[in-house]
Amino acid sequence: MTENVPTITVHPDQPGADLGDLYGIFFEDLNHAADGGLYAEMVQNRSFEFCMVDNPEYHALTAWETAQGTPLQPTPLTLRVLSDAPLNPTNQHYLQVDTHEPLTIRNHGYNQGMYFQNGAVYNFSVFARKLYAPVTLTIALTDETGQVLASGETVIAANDWRQYRVSLVSQATTTTGRLQVTISGNAHVSLDMISLFPKDTFKGRANGVRKDLGEKLAALQPKFMRFPGGCLVHDGSLDPRDRDASYRWKNSIGPVEARPARRNSWGYNQTLGLGYFELFQLAEDIGATPLPVLPGGWDPHHQWGAPLAELQPFIDDALDLIEFANGAPDTEWGAQRAARGHPASFNLRYIAIGNEEVGQAFFDRYPQFHAKIKARYPDMKIINSAGPFAAGSEFDRGWTSARKQHSDLVDEHYYCTPNWFLANQHRYDTYDAHGPKAFLGEYASWGNHWGNALAEASCMIGLERNADKVGLACYAPLLCNTDYRNWAPDLIWFNQHQVYGSVNYDVQKLFMNWQGQHNIAHTETNMPAATPLPAAPTTGAVRWQGDGADVAYSNMAYTDLLTETTQHLADGTVKEQDRAEVLAKTSGYFRLTFDFVKTGGRPDKGVHLDFGVADEQHKFSWVLGGWQNQDALISQDDEGGNSCLTQSIWHVEPNMPYHCELTVDGDHITGKINGHVFNDIRIPSGEIAPLYINATSIAGHVIVKLVNVQAAAQTVEVTGLPDGEALVLTQHADPTAQNSFAHPDTVTKAETPLGVVNHTASITVLAYGIVFVVSRGEK
Ligand code: AHR
Repeated sequence: MTENVPTITVHPDQPGADLGDLYGIFFEDLNHAADGGLYAEMVQNRSFEFCMVDNPEYHALTAWETAQGTPLQPTPLTLRVLSDAPLNPTNQHYLQVDTHEPLTIRNHGYNQGMYFQNGAVYNFSVFARKLYAPVTLTIALTDETGQVLASGETVIAANDWRQYRVSLVSQATTTTGRLQVTISGNAHVSLDMISLFPKDTFKGRANGVRKDLGEKLAALQPKFMRFPGGCLVHDGSLDPRDRDASYRWKNSIGPVEARPARRNSWGYNQTLGLGYFELFQLAEDIGATPLPVLPGGWDPHHQWGAPLAELQPFIDDALDLIEFANGAPDTEWGAQRAARGHPASFNLRYIAIGNEEVGQAFFDRYPQFHAKIKARYPDMKIINSAGPFAAGSEFDRGWTSARKQHSDLVDEHYYCTPNWFLANQHRYDTYDAHGPKAFLGEYASWGNHWGNALAEASCMIGLERNADKVGLACYAPLLCNTDYRNWAPDLIWFNQHQVYGSVNYDVQKLFMNWQGQHNIAHTETNMPAATPLPAAPTTGAVRWQGDGADVAYSNMAYTDLLTETTQHLADGTVKEQDRAEVLAKTSGYFRLTFDFVKTGGRPDKGVHLDFGVADEQHKFSWVLGGWQNQDALISQDDEGGNSCLTQSIWHVEPNMPYHCELTVDGDHITGKINGHVFNDIRIPSGEIAPLYINATSIAGHVIVKLVNVQAAAQTVEVTGLPDGEALVLTQHADPTAQNSFAHPDTVTKAETPLGVVNHTASITVLAYGIVFVVSRGEK
């Protein structure tokens, strides 16, 4: 060790916690991640099931047009969407064509059209039946002008529903393709499940996954795959036969044409074509252990749930799913898996009950699931839920339930700013290594810039360091079709013909590819001092900010806790998105008391009391009736977005007076409503470490991980390494760098061999850089 030189000494002979399945991915069908995305089906609305329940703008002929490109309209007696004598009772609508003249219909798929590649094979299929004479269907792949790129025919010869297939080879490439079906004249024919798949799917699976997207997932080498959501799991009615039912997996495994389309809570139609079998298969194909999330019989969006005595169907769903995944082919559900061509077990080891559940109602239900699953499958790891935020009463409720029920893991979610992540680097240091483990089931810093990715990298170092307390972690969301964005940032962006990983993807890939099997001890000497994170002042303005409700406030008083003086403030009203400043500046140590009444506006909305307002990007908010008027929370806006600091369940009733008290005592904020503390939090503060450091090992190889979030390079001596060949993996970029279709690789990456002599290497981590030193260059 050179004197006074910042040095990291690794101790490969001192193993620490096992990293297990730490890094994985979270797949949810939002942003058209499945339909119009990962699911390789090219036809949109293939079975004429789109309807207003999915989206007010949808109808049974959405995405279909005439040969002239005008939206397809039902024409009485010629072209109708019917549901009598359907192909199956679960997916009832079909297209009925009764025409003397030849009639052409076209589907434009997703985005600006289908992607056909010159020489590629496309598999067309349709379920059809005819009434009188045989009907010829001419199938064509065209570009948007109608230019034919491939064509073929099939004759509908039977009076009952049968499937017909045509294979087509495209003679040109287009990104604005259409699938065209021309029905011969004098036809009386019913058509359903009009489908087109590229033959070349990921791993060549029928009803499979888009190859480029599947490869992008596989390249991550995730240890697990959480699916199928997210909010779409628990949002919906309790009856699985309902169009807007919560996600019931048994609906997703039948013959594709019989899977009931459902309302996807992200505002579109979910075909369930990419169902549970396909998702288990995908997990296996990318080498990830499956981690399904099941509804717990309680929908926190609508605040309804199955009565406690009627939970059994939901519990059966969980038990049967485990049998479906793992049961021998001679079991009832194992036989269903085997019948789909997979007699071997999917080796399911984790199951999550609930996603972001809040409220006691869920935690009254969870114990029943837990007890019955553990009784039958004692080794199954069961995941409880800690709500949608990083702290507060609902977060605590989830953890309390998990400890009481002996859940194996607790699902935490947070979407926050880069500074919040840096300030919370030590979040897991104080967790109990003997209780349930944390599962960071959804996290991201608000952005797809390199500065965000670096903050996430620093967080991942903290997760690894605490691998005895943190079991699993996955970034969210995973996928976004750029033309159908519900949520950003996202890990992977695509349209119908292109895909790129965000810079956050680069970081996730680096950490997943080089996770290591277990930690090894390391010591740090002569490291430069940490830099304090800039403090967020609470001394700015105080104002009301409307959030869709009409509110009248009165009896406002501001007490400066330093001078013990009180100032009375004017009464007023806010509505819609009104703002009303009531004070230009506070001392940073103050109490605000006030009364307010919601007098009108949206029932699902409340109001914000902003304080410490410097500008729109720098402020705190006490949100009274947030989200769907279900929360009281304190949030902070700073560089790069908003972080919820703490949340409790609370809602504002109309025409009800509330007496509130907000105390800001330096970094300690307390919010009381009618005398009860609903929010109590310290503003996260902390330091920026000169480097975020962890060391792991796998099969005798040592991986030293160094993350530099600062503007200056940092050189360190790394000692304790095995002598011989090492590989230095580096990534760095400007914090504002982000990838795009035009510039998919803005992060500078290198893999440089390095000879390690005397167990020591000098390593420079560039400004805003990451370095992994991998001894011997192999895993
Ligand atoms: O990841 C996007 C959404 O964020 C998920 O559906 C939900 O669980 C969370 O609120």
